[in-house]
Amino acid sequence: MTNKFYITTPIYYINDRPHAGHAYTTIFADILSRCHRAKKERVFFLTGVDEHGIKIEKAAREAGKDFGVFCDENAGKFQESWRILNIKYDNFIRTTNPEHIFAVNRALEILFKDGFIYKGEYQGNYCEECEQFKNEKDLINGKCPDHQKEPVLLKEQCYLFRLSHFEKKIKEKILGGELIILPEERKNEILNFLGEGLKDIAISRRAVKWGVSLPFDPSFTVYVWIDAFLNYLTGLGWSGKPKDVSEFWPPDVQLMAKDILRVHSVIWPALLLALEIPLPKKFLVHGFFTVEGQKMSKSLGNVIWPENLVEKFGADASRYLLASSLAYGGDGNLSWNRLKEKYNADLANGIGNLFERVFTMARDYNYDYDNNDNNDKIDKEIGDFLEKTKTNYSQKMDDYQLYEALGTILSFVKKLDQYINQKEPWKLIANKNPEAKKILDSLIFGIKNIIILLKPFMPEKMAQAESYFKNLGWQPEKLNLFPRL
Ligand code: MSP
Repeated sequence: MTNKFYITTPIYYINDRPHAGHAYTTIFADILSRCHRAKKERVFFLTGVDEHGIKIEKAAREAGKDFGVFCDENAGKFQESWRILNIKYDNFIRTTNPEHIFAVNRALEILFKDGFIYKGEYQGNYCEECEQFKNEKDLINGKCPDHQKEPVLLKEQCYLFRLSHFEKKIKEKILGGELIILPEERKNEILNFLGEGLKDIAISRRAVKWGVSLPFDPSFTVYVWIDAFLNYLTGLGWSGKPKDVSEFWPPDVQLMAKDILRVHSVIWPALLLALEIPLPKKFLVHGFFTVEGQKMSKSLGNVIWPENLVEKFGADASRYLLASSLAYGGDGNLSWNRLKEKYNADLANGIGNLFERVFTMARDYNYDYDNNDNNDKIDKEIGDFLEKTKTNYSQKMDDYQLYEALGTILSFVKKLDQYINQKEPWKLIANKNPEAKKILDSLIFGIKNIIILLKPFMPEKMAQAESYFKNLGWQPEKLNLFPRL
């Protein structure tokens, strides 16, 4: 039986279309799922949208639209963005799906029946943008630091979830490595946070209409995060019965940025423990990027939209540029100038130029592609460098270090360029010197391998390059994979 690999992205709020930040996470998940598919594993890649709650209610009102219509329109925009970025997901979950709502209802009934949800009163500062209660010490000058907005004081009769009950158990699961949090610093952050103690949380909202009604008290809707977390189960077709989880369960990797790690590390495992469902294996947490040094925001007018990226660079180059925009665990900055520079350096003058150089020489030599798979014919210098590259690349990919993995490929590209400059095969080709064949064998072999390594990042361009060089003798035009900008 082959391995299974279940990977998820957060489900994004549907108050607007997706921007480059959402695209980054989704591309990351797509790249990992393509790597696992290439290993012939059974892969399930889930993404989707988070449609309920006050944030969406407000956005729909501001747009003067019916909630449902507003969500349908924006869900379509997400799907369109993922389509133009060559994202190949297995399901796109919407929390307004009747099947999802049905399962959420069932789960709530179980939690209520088992005493994990009880009636009480809650008072706290609520940031409507985060859809989260904030502690005094989370605020800076009385404002939510992420949204520069004062939270509203909420005091209401409500239903609470017995989060405190799970504090010890969650800590044990993280410490014991049953729930891995990567990078290590993020894990420590969560352990420190858990060390401060967990309080029960309010999970019902009387004022919010756009949400899933509590089955045992329909005058409330459920806190949007409870509804949202269950997507990771319903996205696999879960009906709400704890024992009925899919064969893909549990998630192997749950990808997210640092902004939502805390809720994921606390409420989500607690819900699963209460329902007696196995926990996810791993949370993989990436940093945030700013744009031209500032928070990406509509009011600043600096939002980078996927469609603008694709228009300028094409789908695959946009994937490449975003995937290499954050080093492992760190934050980063996007700027249009930097993106263009990187496109020209890595893709047009780097990878694209190398391919073109080699294909041109191979064409001049009438190179025979069907017979170039023989490792013995490869120059040792190139063969050794390639082996080292493959090992480093695999290690980086196993550690989820996309930017670093791409770096190993770029070094190999440089090596091949130097090799060409040094060997000057064009002279040998002009003189019909048979030595040219060995050099071309090595170069073509190198390129074949670059294509394999880059495929998860740039599936369409690499498929194009592959079919081009296999039929080189019949190509009427240059490949021009990444035209200079
Ligand atoms: N709806 C919740 C998630 C519920 S999951 C059960 C939510 N949605 S969100 O639309 O705000 O998406 C947050 C996620 O979008 C981040 O965790 C990250 O994956 C991605 N990003 C949004 N902006 C980003 C950057 N500026 N940089 C990198 N990633 C960013 O939270």
